[in-house]
Amino acid sequence: MEKIFKKNICCIGAGYVGGPTMSVIALNCPDYRIDVVDVNKERINSWNNIDLSKLPIFEPGLDKVVENCRGKNLFFSTNIKESISNADIVFISVNTPTKLKGIGANYASDLSWIEASARQIAKYSRNHTVVVEKSTLPVKTAETIKTILNSSKEDNTNKKTIKGNKTFSIISNPEFLAEGSAISDLQNPDRVLIGGEDTESINLIADIYKHWVDSKRIITTNLWSSELSKLVANAFLAQRISSINSLSELCEETGADIEEVSKAIGMDSRIGSSFLKTSVGFGGSCFKKDILNLVYIARSQGLEKVANYWEQILVINAHQRDRFSKKIIDCIEKNNLEPKVLLLGLAFKKDTNDTRESAAIYVANNLLNSKIEIGVFDPKVNINQIQFDLSDLNENYDKTLVKFIQDPVSNISNYNLIAIMTEWDEFKEFDWQYIYSKIKKPAFIFDGRNILNIEKIKKLGFNYTGLGRK
Ligand SMILES: NC(=O)c1ccc[n+]([C@@H]2O[C@H](COP(=O)([O-])OP(=O)(O)OC[C@H]3O[C@@H](n4cnc5c(N)ncnc54)[C@H](O)[C@@H]3O)[C@@H](O)[C@H]2O)c1
Repeated sequence: MEKIFKKNICCIGAGYVGGPTMSVIALNCPDYRIDVVDVNKERINSWNNIDLSKLPIFEPGLDKVVENCRGKNLFFSTNIKESISNADIVFISVNTPTKLKGIGANYASDLSWIEASARQIAKYSRNHTVVVEKSTLPVKTAETIKTILNSSKEDNTNKKTIKGNKTFSIISNPEFLAEGSAISDLQNPDRVLIGGEDTESINLIADIYKHWVDSKRIITTNLWSSELSKLVANAFLAQRISSINSLSELCEETGADIEEVSKAIGMDSRIGSSFLKTSVGFGGSCFKKDILNLVYIARSQGLEKVANYWEQILVINAHQRDRFSKKIIDCIEKNNLEPKVLLLGLAFKKDTNDTRESAAIYVANNLLNSKIEIGVFDPKVNINQIQFDLSDLNENYDKTLVKFIQDPVSNISNYNLIAIMTEWDEFKEFDWQYIYSKIKKPAFIFDGRNILNIEKIKKLGFNYTGLGRK
């Protein structure tokens, strides 16, 4: 006999957020049925792959959660129509990239996928449906969704949008997970934010999280505060990275050590220690697009100074990538070396296979523009993705200058220079003594994540360049 579930949830979008988020909801709510749907058949097939190492997204612990729930109360499919029709709650977890053309181009979020999802919900839903914004959205997007859902009339008494015999409530429930620690972030969130207009729907969404999250950590706000808070959270996190990165340059000029400065200021409980690690620059699909979005919103409200303040975070981020690239290029020229660099890492941070907006891609592009050959190795990023990323930034990049390295250690004798781009633990654990014995001399390491022990590396004979320290 088929199991009767307490509630049916549909999630539109089986990406980095939809997949892990719904898997963790399924794990904690065996009494709910979760259908994750996507237009991308290939992605859905990967979610259904029996070989759990082939899931489309790599996140520590995700495979175990999927193994536990898939086929029981968690289903991945392209059956968008049927899943929406059966759902009491529909999460929208689709991509919201920066708009490339039209009004707000290069700043505002492109809401085409959100609008398409709203049209699908308007068409296929039955009875009352709670529509949840899980994607990160510009403040006031719920108005747009409402307009699409509510092509007829609005019942102002209970704030439910009505279309024919269908009713809708819109809730904002932004996701704060960090890639690389998505499963533990979802299992133990700092807070769950639920913004909405009607208490019944807010409670319905809160009930899901109450299966495993302490009620004190579930906070409710109005719709607009919730939408804006997500953008602001990302802007604050990125601001801390750009702040410390800007100071890494000052450290290099003054003899201060950025690691010591980070530690000294991070121990101040008013400041806190997280997001104070200097690096070649932040990446990921969210920080840049969310800041651009915030800048756009501020500018459209006539708040030019506010917009300029937040935009500066991106200026510093690009500057950090460029000055790291320049250190490598200058080294090759000054020492008259063969123009070849081995890049270790392409993912935007460790423990993820996501390369979107990775600083490594921008540095690779800078090196290629200077006619420097690059060897690229990342433990979780495949060749197709590397090719896609490089051509996405510059479709005419010189393909003859790019080598895909399967085993960096056995290839090391081709290089004088290594640049660490991602802080993968395995790079720290490499046998650097062996590498030094095989690498061409003179040997140079550019540590874009400050992960190596300078004393040990220098003692082996490497010329070491980190960020914000000598
Ligand atoms: N990646 C993160 O770490 C993160 C964290 C918090 C919030 N967010 C936000 O969550 C949202 C989703 O991000 P993501 O990284 O999961 O994106 P993603 O690109 O990995 O996944 C989005 C998926 O939605 C699918 N899709 C788009 N339109 C569809 C439609 N109409 N019907 C069915 N499927 C559709 C796409 O095919 C894609 O697989 C974005 O707004 C992002 O800003 C992302």
